[in-house]
Amino acid sequence: VPTEFKLNSGTTIPAVGLGTWKSEPGQVTQAVAHAIKSGYKHVDGALCYGNEAEVGAGIKASGVDRKDLFITSKLWCTYHDRVEEGLNQTLKDLGTDYLDLYLIHWPVRTVENGTSKLFPVKEDGSRNIDREWDQAKTWAQMEAVLASGKVKAIGVSNFSELYLERLSKTWKVVPAVNQVELHPYNPQHSLKAYCDSKGIVLQAYSPLGSNDSPLHAEPVLVEIAQKHNVAPATVLISYQVNRGVVVLPKSVTPKRIEDNLKVIKLDAEDLAKLDGLAAAGKQQRVVSPPWGTDLGFVDWFGPDNKNAPA
Ligand code: A2P
Repeated sequence: VPTEFKLNSGTTIPAVGLGTWKSEPGQVTQAVAHAIKSGYKHVDGALCYGNEAEVGAGIKASGVDRKDLFITSKLWCTYHDRVEEGLNQTLKDLGTDYLDLYLIHWPVRTVENGTSKLFPVKEDGSRNIDREWDQAKTWAQMEAVLASGKVKAIGVSNFSELYLERLSKTWKVVPAVNQVELHPYNPQHSLKAYCDSKGIVLQAYSPLGSNDSPLHAEPVLVEIAQKHNVAPATVLISYQVNRGVVVLPKSVTPKRIEDNLKVIKLDAEDLAKLDGLAAAGKQQRVVSPPWGTDLGFVDWFGPDNKNAPA
């Protein structure tokens, strides 16, 4: 099983990284420091998680050289018209002068209107979205920060095939990665095939099914875990690496952080069973776009919305 993957930027990315979404600021510093001391070389964060200064403190506390680590962050939606400013904020918070990977967090621009810097809402409570914004404009700025050397690779997150296909009309640099929700209940086989064809590496967020995971009670998972004498979480993490996907399990618990570095080889039969769960009626997402699914995310729930919850 590979321990790293090659990106189209020419650099390599460690196959397992520590996720930090929903990691409380008061807990994430020790989590990041513990992870790096335990052997993690890769930490995934984002400006909107509200904990980048604490993530940066954890990186420092680990004592490991910055150059030996792979750090990812993401451009938040309110910064689509000011990519360098969003990046500079993240660099300042993390206390570093470059990122290994910078992603557009969502293919959506939201507009500050005084209600909140990160989560502006309209009077009716819905997100203040710029529906006219062309993602090509955001990507051109991402290409510019790549050229500046402040980031070593650029990519996207939460991009469906439709959004990638649109972006492909103007991109000069092909995204190195697309980070999306991936686990056996949401394997996104079609998006995987599309990204493979373009040389884009997929990254799995919520690989364990996030908090209150519906996967905990999955009999096929328990069976495969018992067969290999490992924890179900190890099967979920290994599943992604075995299919060529970078995996980003989140934990703030020291023992789990250590356990989540473990990747085993799954055999063809295991992979076929895990690959088939969604098609066998278990398709389910655990994360929904914060603005609903009416933004032209036409394949968010699969072609013709066929995987949308009832
Ligand atoms: P905690 O952070 O309190 O340890 P995901 O990566 O899919 O978003 O899942 C994160 C959730 O899974 C968190 O609630 C995290 O809890 C929990 N978790 C992380 N690692 C493990 C593990 N090895 N076994 C069980 N639960 C885990």
